[in-house]
Amino acid sequence: MNKMAKKVILTGDRPTGKLHVGHYVGSLKNRVELQNSGGYDTYIMIADMQALTDNARDPEKIRNSLIQVTLDYLAVGIDPKKSTILVQSQIPALSELTQHYSNLVSMSRLERNPTVKNEIRQKNFGQSVPAGFVMYPISQAADITAFKATTVPVGDDQEPMLEQTREIVRTFNSVYDQQVLVEPEGYFPPKGQGRIPGLDGNAKMSKSLGNAIYLSDDADTLSKKVMSMYTDPNHIHVEDPGQVEGNTVFTYLDIFDDDKDHVAELKEQYRHGGLGDVKIKRYLNDVLQAKLDPIRTRRNEYAQDIAGVYDILKQGSDKANVVANQTLKEVRDAIGINYFD
Ligand code: TRP
Repeated sequence: MNKMAKKVILTGDRPTGKLHVGHYVGSLKNRVELQNSGGYDTYIMIADMQALTDNARDPEKIRNSLIQVTLDYLAVGIDPKKSTILVQSQIPALSELTQHYSNLVSMSRLERNPTVKNEIRQKNFGQSVPAGFVMYPISQAADITAFKATTVPVGDDQEPMLEQTREIVRTFNSVYDQQVLVEPEGYFPPKGQGRIPGLDGNAKMSKSLGNAIYLSDDADTLSKKVMSMYTDPNHIHVEDPGQVEGNTVFTYLDIFDDDKDHVAELKEQYRHGGLGDVKIKRYLNDVLQAKLDPIRTRRNEYAQDIAGVYDILKQGSDKANVVANQTLKEVRDAIGINYFD
């Protein structure tokens, strides 16, 4: 019984630390735009259960990050009046859905997931990869399908999760011969704009590499980070011709400076020689401060009232439970384990 075919967004993050500008360009920016477009029911999930799949022995980290990530969301403009912000662990239906779906996915299929494979390599689990970790794409399929999401704004490393989700949806609907679940689509940043290198020029910005600019960095921290950024190592004297490609400062300007003509001029000047690194970094600092200042201010405002932030999460989770429980009921009905109805 489809009401109006309103599109539904579901997306989320693992609370394992504060969010950085890589998260912002990779996904948060898109979410805010989609939310404000008004064309979607929007659910934003703090995936604490998924974070626990590789942090089970350090739940305090996850608990602390829960509130930090929520502050980051509110700071960038996710608006609890327009979007439902929910906490994964507070939605019991998700765990039961995960269980039902896990029966439809083979072990070898799980082991083929390229993103999970990469993570397993990076996290040095050795012989002790937690079973829950290998399973998290199934739980992510539960997150997405519980809300019948049509649209999942994420970074491009999440494509394998969407692929897995679509497979589960198709298998479920065909095995139980019902159109209960909805196939989602990913919604990715424009090509070449979804990924921002770290301060050190490493292709990935991440907490573990220590090369991130956090949404919560104060003005001073931000300018120190900008001044330390990797540029062209062969650009030694101001008058030397410099390289723009692979130069982190210019990559950031491409992403954050709205004045593209000015960026083009600066690039030209840098290539020719005569534009010093300090000067270009100061300029980037101004651009970034202007972008991040309103985010910072809003974050600090919300941080004054942490009880209010928990309240936002509680209300969002209550609302989400109604929707997820309805989907779970349809899933149980489809399987036929509704003995007492
Ligand atoms: N796997 C996502 C990440 O690491 C987080 C996540 C959990 C998620 N559940 C989700 C993303 C559902 C989109 C939809 O960033």
